[in-house]
Amino acid sequence: MAQILCIIGNKGGTGKTTLSHLLAHGLGLFGKYTVAVLTDIERQPLARVGRNYLPFDARQTENLERVVRKLRSVENWYGVIDGGGNRPQMDTTLAALADLVLLPFRDSHEDIRTLIQDLDRFPNAYALPSQWPSNPWQLQAATRTIDNLLARYRERILEPVYAQSATKLLLQHELPPQLPAALNNTARMVALQVMELLGIPLPEDRWIPIPRQTATIEDDAFAAQRNQAA
Ligand SMILES: Nc1ncnc2c1ncn2[C@@H]1O[C@H](COP(=O)(O)OP(=O)(O)O)[C@@H](O)[C@H]1O
Ligand SMILES: [Mg+2]
Repeated sequence: MAQILCIIGNKGGTGKTTLSHLLAHGLGLFGKYTVAVLTDIERQPLARVGRNYLPFDARQTENLERVVRKLRSVENWYGVIDGGGNRPQMDTTLAALADLVLLPFRDSHEDIRTLIQDLDRFPNAYALPSQWPSNPWQLQAATRTIDNLLARYRERILEPVYAQSATKLLLQHELPPQLPAALNNTARMVALQVMELLGIPLPEDRWIPIPRQTATIEDDAFAAQRNQAA
C-alpha cells in the first residue's frame, strides 16, 4: 500500500498547499513516486510540466475516492493530500485515512490555538512550523512562543520550514526548468522528516543534489505506471 500523507488544519493561509508541493517535490527528488492531491475547491489545478511528481485534481469527491483507492492498491507510492482550510468534516475524513497528518502553523497565537485543537483531535498528526522567521530576534521570539504554548506537544513538533519566497515557484502553473538549490534543500528536509516518521530507510546520499536529468528518467517510469493505472 502507498503511504498517504494529509496536510490539513482548520485555518487558511498556514501553508498547507505550499507544504504539500514541497513534500511531493522533496519525495520526488529522492526518487519516490508521488501524487500531490488537490482537494481545495478554491484553488486551480497545476500542470505536470517540470514536476517530478504528479499533480492530481481531486476537487470532486469521486476523484478523491478514486485516487485513494488507487493508492491503496499500489506499492511504493506516496500520496500527499492538500486538505484546504476551514473544512473540519473533510479534515476528519482525511486524517482517518492518512498514515501521517501534518499540521502547518505560523508563529501566531491564533494559528497555535487552532493547532492545539487539531493536535488533540488527530493523534496521528504532527505540527510543522511554517513560514518560520529566520531572523535571529524573530526566531528567538517564535521559539519562546512554542515553549510557552506548546510545551505539552514538544515531541510532535517538527523542524520548521522557514519563510522562503522561492516556495512560490512550486505553486506556479508550470515549474521553471531550474529551481533554486535552497528550495530543493527545503523540500528534501521536509521529505526526510516525513520518511523518518514513517520508518522508511533514509537515502544515504541525502545531501547530494540530484540532477534534473534523473527526474526525467523517473518521469518515464511514472508515466508507465500512470498509463497502467488508467
Ligand atoms: N515557507 C514559506 N515561505 C514564504 N511564503 C510562504 C511559505 N509557505 C507559504 N507561503 C505563502 O503564504 C501564503 C499561504 O500559503 P498557502 O500554501 O496557500 O496556505 P494554505 O494552503 O494553508 O491556505 C501564500 O501566499 C504562500 O505563498
Ligand atoms: Mg491551500
